[in-house]
Amino acid sequence: MKVLGIESSCDETAASVVQDGRILLSNVVNSQIDIHALYGGVVPEIAARSHIEVVNPVINQALTDANLTWDDIDAIAVTYAPGLIGSLLVGTLAARTLAVLKNKPLYPIHHVEAHVYANFLNERAPEFPMLALIVSGGHSQLVLFRDHGDYELLGQTQDDAVGEAFDKVAKIIGLPYPGGPSIAKAALEGDPTAFKLPKAKLSGKYDFSFSGLKTAVLRAVQREVGVDFTFPSHDLPGLLNDVQRANFAASFQRTAIETLVDTTARAFHDYSPKSVVIAGGVAANQELRRILSDRLPIQIDYAPMNLCTDNGAMIATLGYYYAQKMPPINPNDLEVIPSLSMTKTAWSKS
Ligand code: KG4
Ligand code: ZN
Repeated sequence: MKVLGIESSCDETAASVVQDGRILLSNVVNSQIDIHALYGGVVPEIAARSHIEVVNPVINQALTDANLTWDDIDAIAVTYAPGLIGSLLVGTLAARTLAVLKNKPLYPIHHVEAHVYANFLNERAPEFPMLALIVSGGHSQLVLFRDHGDYELLGQTQDDAVGEAFDKVAKIIGLPYPGGPSIAKAALEGDPTAFKLPKAKLSGKYDFSFSGLKTAVLRAVQREVGVDFTFPSHDLPGLLNDVQRANFAASFQRTAIETLVDTTARAFHDYSPKSVVIAGGVAANQELRRILSDRLPIQIDYAPMNLCTDNGAMIATLGYYYAQKMPPINPNDLEVIPSLSMTKTAWSKS
């Protein structure tokens, strides 16, 4: 079964064809990062307009790259939640229209759940029960999957997502958007023990919190350059030299990663899963991969970097497994949901 996956929930317009939820036939991603970098973050209205401009060419390119025509496509899968409403609308309207015109079954896909499915394209597919650490710009959660569509949310962030913390700390220390890759790069030159930063203590055994860590970095930067909290934060980066910047990047990154790894290790020992996967944009972080592999007594297979950030392949892959268990949706009934926990999707039991 060949599924066309369409993704447009944030600032990437993406389409991909995946066969039987295992074989990647094409993967086209049009990133708007350059446009939004000018503003230091995603501007929703600009994102939606940019999706409109490229959604058709991106879909056509996915078919061309896979060497397929519409006759070869068995189904369409599209992100319907969560995300920016204007962005979601463009992808879902394209998918709904094509489902009617080309007479293909249509499957609605939850973006965060789909991130986990990038790992099913690895050479070795994950086995259930599978512990998933989902870490993106909008989510930080630990989920135990017992089977496809059968999972339990063990814990989640109580405030900022970890990717959001990377983006905000990058801004504080004067590194470009998106913050994750620029902090990871700067950290290579820095000393992760240069600044002692706090790890949040929470009542939920598998919960996270990153807002305090971000504020701790801000206070440490102010102390380091000798100003108080009344000093305008957008002028702070100009007072840091490159060594200080790299040390802050490395210290923040180390603390954020240790928080994620400590909690994942706790869940691993409590639930003894057969596989562990990481998913979402922050899963591209090499230091996170290294420290997690060191800590857990299990071999972890990591998805390629380009399948960790937003893409259509993860949507097509989950679309395949979803289609094995669920009927397609009537294209006229598909509505976008900007905010929706993955435990509230149509096929989840929790
Ligand atoms: O999954 P994603 O592409 O979009 C969302 O669904 O949120 O994740 C984007 C997030 C951003 O916060 C970005 O800074 C972060 O992933 N990110 C990284 C790295 N690459 C992307 N964070 C840490 N290290 C990286 N190498
Ligand atoms: Zn994402």
